[in-house]
Amino acid sequence: MHFRRFIFFIFLVLNLYCPCQAQSSSIEIDDRLSVRLSSPFSIALETLQGLIEYNFTDIGLLRRAMTHSSYSEENNRALSILGESVIETWVSLRQLTKDIDVSPQDLNTLISEVSEVETSCAVDGMKLKLQNIVRVSPKTDPSTPSVVCGAFRAMFGAIAVDTGKADVGGSKFGSVHEKFGRARAV
Ligand SMILES: *[C@@H]1O[C@H](CO)[C@@H](O)[C@H](O)[C@H]1NC(C)=O
Repeated sequence: MHFRRFIFFIFLVLNLYCPCQAQSSSIEIDDRLSVRLSSPFSIALETLQGLIEYNFTDIGLLRRAMTHSSYSEENNRALSILGESVIETWVSLRQLTKDIDVSPQDLNTLISEVSEVETSCAVDGMKLKLQNIVRVSPKTDPSTPSVVCGAFRAMFGAIAVDTGKADVGGSKFGSVHEKFGRARAV
């Protein structure tokens, strides 16, 4: 029993004086420094913000949106799920505002058109040249439609999180889709 208490005490002391905290904050500082030192990735993020006409309060969100799961555990997968639903909500809202009598079939068609990976999502993402920005592992091709589409959706998920408002992400999708997307009314 005494021995166990001793081990517990040692454990407690190690936890209190573990340099982990210091390490993680120095990583944070390095991260900020690299932004200031303008790595090609952070320059690309700046350019992207200009293209979409949105400046992130937390640039870390855009950084994460432009990170594929093959590259890091801190990646865009969850943001891209939010992005997809933000986009679909925006399409539904816009269509119902225009025409409250839209048939459910027509609405579903519009939603599936805009959610289509190869013909809509990846096309929009390619026009923003996300394939040149998104971070992937050396074995992954960043031009793969699913990679470009994931980053594209994650960007709007990231805007929603940055503002705490899904509709800001949605309407930003609307303006980007109109500006860079295919010349087609959605
Ligand atoms: C974003 O920041 C840049 C540089 O500070 C500024 O020129 C630009 O107008 C800002 N864009 C928006 C949409 O606020």
